[in-house]
Amino acid sequence: MAVNQKTNNFTVEARKRIVVTGGAGFLGSHVVPQLLDQDREVVVIDNFSNGKKEHLAPYADDPRLEIIEGDITRPEDVRRAFYGCRQVIHLAVLDLRQSIKEPQRVSEVNIMGTINCLEAALRNRVELFLHCSSSEVYGSGVYVPMDEAHPFRPETPYAASKIAQDMYVQSYGRVYGLPWAILRPFNMYGPNSPWEGVRGELIPKMIVRAMNGFPLVIFGDGDQTRDFVYVKETAGALLALADHPEAWSRCLNFCSGRETPVRRIAEIICRQFGLNPERYIRREDPRPGDVRRHLGDSSQFRSFFGFTPEVGIEEGIGLTIEWFKSLPLKAEELLSGEVLRNWEKEDVSYREDLFNYRSDRTARI
Ligand SMILES: NC(=O)c1ccc[n+]([C@@H]2O[C@H](COP(=O)([O-])OP(=O)(O)OC[C@H]3O[C@@H](n4cnc5c(N)ncnc54)[C@H](O)[C@@H]3O)[C@@H](O)[C@H]2O)c1
Repeated sequence: MAVNQKTNNFTVEARKRIVVTGGAGFLGSHVVPQLLDQDREVVVIDNFSNGKKEHLAPYADDPRLEIIEGDITRPEDVRRAFYGCRQVIHLAVLDLRQSIKEPQRVSEVNIMGTINCLEAALRNRVELFLHCSSSEVYGSGVYVPMDEAHPFRPETPYAASKIAQDMYVQSYGRVYGLPWAILRPFNMYGPNSPWEGVRGELIPKMIVRAMNGFPLVIFGDGDQTRDFVYVKETAGALLALADHPEAWSRCLNFCSGRETPVRRIAEIICRQFGLNPERYIRREDPRPGDVRRHLGDSSQFRSFFGFTPEVGIEEGIGLTIEWFKSLPLKAEELLSGEVLRNWEKEDVSYREDLFNYRSDRTARI
């Protein structure tokens, strides 16, 4: 992919320059075009470990976009990308399922990588470090709807690393005066969401199975719920936040306020493909660390911006199906990338031994 070189003169144009870490990822691929639509100069730093070059390919020749292949765990890469930028949108991350397989690697990227970004932001005296948190920090709802005061109860190493990120961002605000804002989105879905390999997400994996006439698999009883947001709306929320200093220095949930059981998602997808849910939904054992209830409260965000997500789940799934059908891959090619139980560690015996050891000790006590 072409890497555009830009001048580092600080002109009026340069003040609009914004760096997006992880800009080639799922959410980043919607944030970058929306920033370009606002006529911002955008620098993306991404190591393409999970992000895809094709996500940004339609904009690669745009002179306002600079794409740097770099790693946020390498301070020199981050310094280069952040140089001359006035704002930061921090999205680079390794994800939940990867964290169950490789917790050390994920914390290195998510925590140390974030600290490198904060350091580079300080050095550049940016006017905003806009961090993307996750509703995973809340874990299974102690109460619903979950507002920003809901306790942190991480169910996975990923959630623990997201809490650490949020805490570091706020501490840099307190100790060094770094201007910050945090958006905390709930589950996202939509075009460019990963369906393949370890990273496959629930909705795209089910769509790919339905496209192939395969049964849709639910892990657990299907009564676990999520608060789904169409990805383009989260991208829009980040841009709104970047423009409104009165909403900075706080964490704001971004969610639909509608609770959807996983089983309902499977039923909607079956219906959209004309499949009988009775025959095409299969249940398997639950995933470890799967949160039980997720329903968010977005009233703080709404009080600042006057909107919350509007795209309903049926409409959003329809748009996502359209996107899948537009891909240059056949249905069976999409399915060939599937890893059904994509969280499992190769060597789980250690954890089972540990569990037995703990149970023995408890029994002795
Ligand atoms: N996907 C969701 O449902 C969801 C929900 C809530 C919050 N979020 C948050 O949104 C943000 C973006 O998530 P996403 O779903 O787009 O994830 P993603 O994995 O699609 O994108 C992350 C990007 O970071 C890049 N990256 C990973 N390690 C890197 C490194 N060491 N150096 C540079 N780049 C690196 C990846 O290549 C990828 O392009 C994250 O902060 C995530 O926690 C996501």
